[in-house]
Amino acid sequence: MFDYINGENNTFKNLINGEWVSSISENFIDIKSPLDKSLLGRVPAMTKEEVDSAIKYAKEAQKKWRDTTISERGKILYKAADLLLEHSDELAHIMMMEIAKDRKSSSSEVSRTADFIRFTVDTAKNLSGESLQGDSFPGFNNNKISIVRREPLGVVLAISPFNYPINLSASKIAPALMAGNSVILKPATQGSLCALYLASIFEKAGVPKGVLNTITGRGSNIGDYITTHPGIDFINFTGSTEVGTRISKITCMVPLLMELGGKDAAIVLENANLELAASNIVSGGYSYSGQRCTAVKRILVVDKVADELVAKIKEKIKLLIVGNPIDKDVDISPLISTEAADFVWDLIEETKSRGANLVIGGKREGNLIYPTLFDNVTTDMRLAWEEPFGPVLPIIRVKDKDEAIEIANKSQYGLQGAVFTESINDAFYVADKLEVGTVQINNKTERGPDHFPFMGVKASGMGTQGIKYSIEAMSRPKATVINIIR
Ligand code: NAP
Ligand code: G3P
Repeated sequence: MFDYINGENNTFKNLINGEWVSSISENFIDIKSPLDKSLLGRVPAMTKEEVDSAIKYAKEAQKKWRDTTISERGKILYKAADLLLEHSDELAHIMMMEIAKDRKSSSSEVSRTADFIRFTVDTAKNLSGESLQGDSFPGFNNNKISIVRREPLGVVLAISPFNYPINLSASKIAPALMAGNSVILKPATQGSLCALYLASIFEKAGVPKGVLNTITGRGSNIGDYITTHPGIDFINFTGSTEVGTRISKITCMVPLLMELGGKDAAIVLENANLELAASNIVSGGYSYSGQRCTAVKRILVVDKVADELVAKIKEKIKLLIVGNPIDKDVDISPLISTEAADFVWDLIEETKSRGANLVIGGKREGNLIYPTLFDNVTTDMRLAWEEPFGPVLPIIRVKDKDEAIEIANKSQYGLQGAVFTESINDAFYVADKLEVGTVQINNKTERGPDHFPFMGVKASGMGTQGIKYSIEAMSRPKATVINIIR
């Protein structure tokens, strides 16, 4: 199914205007597995000329694609969802090798993406416009009627991160296509093989030539050129706050949808179900080795129940299976890169040196960092504020819910928060005051289900994703006013 996207000596091709093309510059980037450093493939470091041509074709193709019916678009995307599931094992294996995601999480990412695509089609079919009569406004009569429909924006630039290379690419592509846009996909370099396979699935499903195009190459080299390209009509970015901020600074008059970094707090009150809280904190904080934007990244617990909570969390961490997902089913796998592991390790070392209590973990084998928990972390430590994107969690003890809210809101981030309490009043008291996009009551922080609105505030992003919201973000109202001559 995928052999045509490979060239000689394991070089991959990009999808441009319906053709799989290799690099004209002969410049390639080696994609090695974080698990065993094996060479998985080589992707083109595309040139500005290649970017120009991809965007040119996308612009041309969109003029025709916008006139296809929603049901035609839906048939193609349903077929893409079917193909994803047909090739689930293959895609999950590639993902495991390319981004060191455990096998179970890799498989669930593929099936979740198929569900996402189908739900997007069904939602698009039911999104309708409205009609307004003029006489509801003073001075106007009912001779004026506005018919409001939704129109595509044009060419959408989708930039996805490494940690969900299939889901966070498709969660941009599918809504964009259903809204009638064409798409340029720029995947994370480490994750680009998964993204190219995904693009081939959309192409095989029948997405017409030029409607979906891929651009590989390091964001640090080609990113500014793509994001400031005059042919781009919308940028849908998921990634770090650092890069998101850069994009928002250098772009002009192009709408942006950004999901960025996070430092999600789990607030545990004295009247919480501590067993429930501990289970959610461990799965929320350590799945995919903490490399999730919505991972639980700090625990704010009231003193009264802190000792009991710490003990419960420690026992659950001991049950986590650590290792290489090639050998066995694991919960904690090596981080995406040595640089990422070094960053996390620096945070661990600093936290130790500043006197926090290492409850469990603090061990490293190459890029594999054992699940680590610190108690008695104070707000003068980096771990209290920085996003590790790794399996390390700080516990900050607070006197009450107000102190928890104050510390939670001091973060530059505002993605999600969680509050564990059996009191509905306390739950809403905290939820109302947290400066975040979403508050989870008695559950870990998480994006799903994918039709819920998903957004970050402050340094965690701008705009709202979530299936209906993404379709709306990548389209616009178009008003046609009928003036009745009586
Ligand atoms: P990243 O380093 O910001 O990269 C994200 C994407 O941006 C990649 O495709 C990257 O390409 C590209 N890029 C880099 N520099 C660019 C530039 N100057 N212009 C345009 N694009 C550029 O993030 P990551 O390491 O992939 O993911 C981890 C970060 O993303 C964490 O901070 C995490 O919190 C955040 N994240 C947030 C969400 C969310 O939904 N809020 C979800 C996932 C991840 P290259 O790979 O070639 O550099
Ligand atoms: O970091 C990816 C972000 O979208 C989190 O998704 O479903 O793991 O909460 P999820």
